Amino acid sequence: MDEIILTQPDDWHVHLRDGERLATTVPYSARSFGRAIVMPNLHPPVTTTRQALAYRDRILRHVPPGNAFEPLMTLYLTEMTTGREIEHAAAAAIAGVKLYPARATTHSEAGVSDLRRCDEALACMQEQHLPLLIHGEAITPGIDIFDRETVFLERELGPLLQRYPRLKIVLEHITTAAAVEFVRQAPPRLAATITAHHLLLNRNDLLLGGLRPHYYCLPVLKRESDREALLEAASSGSPKFFLGTDSAPHAQSAKENACGCAGIFTAPAALELYAEAFEQSGRLSHLEGFASHFGADFYGLPRNSTTVRLRRESWSLPAAYPYGPDVVVPLRATSTLRWRLLC
Ligand code: NCD
Ligand code: ZN
Repeated sequence: MDEIILTQPDDWHVHLRDGERLATTVPYSARSFGRAIVMPNLHPPVTTTRQALAYRDRILRHVPPGNAFEPLMTLYLTEMTTGREIEHAAAAAIAGVKLYPARATTHSEAGVSDLRRCDEALACMQEQHLPLLIHGEAITPGIDIFDRETVFLERELGPLLQRYPRLKIVLEHITTAAAVEFVRQAPPRLAATITAHHLLLNRNDLLLGGLRPHYYCLPVLKRESDREALLEAASSGSPKFFLGTDSAPHAQSAKENACGCAGIFTAPAALELYAEAFEQSGRLSHLEGFASHFGADFYGLPRNSTTVRLRRESWSLPAAYPYGPDVVVPLRATSTLRWRLLC
């Protein structure tokens, strides 16, 4: 197979940032994806429907002419989110509400310290069929960073599934074999997104032979056995696992720093990176379900009716892209990519 044709894929988890940085992020996401679930962790966060719709307008101004890219907006859950706000969100076709455990990741300070304080919002989301999108890491001090996802599954996600028996949940960017197993065992209203970088890299890539800041993200890369379990799940054909890049750009100076930011910018070659991972698993034919069907099905949206073509071809990304007043380094900068999306 030297060329594959896929239903136009969607990205079910992306950070587009704001302001002049949209000029970099939006065209790259729009190049590969028909729709994208846009994360609300701006500074200050997107906590109201009004803010989400204004953010959507700012994004749309950067979509290249003739491109039908559709940003799907989310709200940032806080302990103050009201049922009324959730009703507004549902009425305005907001696609989901994002749970950031407080201080778990970039711009999560306004997030949730105690999920029981969000009962009004969560109960209303369940009624309104608005999915909860979760950054699944436990934040109790002292938990080892490599265990934060696994601890979250037991202490938070299990009880949450029981307390809200009809709430739809996406466990975002899973990173462990334990999360794969948890999602497999759970009812169909729980699904998970998987990033390209967690399918391609493990913690040795991050830490062995020198610290690689451009491989640092949250949840942090795990063991090779976890990577293998993720790749198996993504390429298994199970509709519970679908594409979410978690493309999360930071300026080069913020990454190559004594206290570097978490986030990997994969948008410029996102689909190509997934194709490479799926080819590694020997199941390239399962890429379409994962990238283009299962996410739309889970969110209750129609599958895209257009197609895209990927060709086996060697090419490479530049060392960096302009990013507002800074530059941003993409994953795989200057190294060879094996697949190319034909535009
Ligand atoms: C994301 C970011 O930079 O906004 N960073 C990351 O490492 N993935 C936040 C997030 O999704 O955790
Ligand atoms: Zn993210």
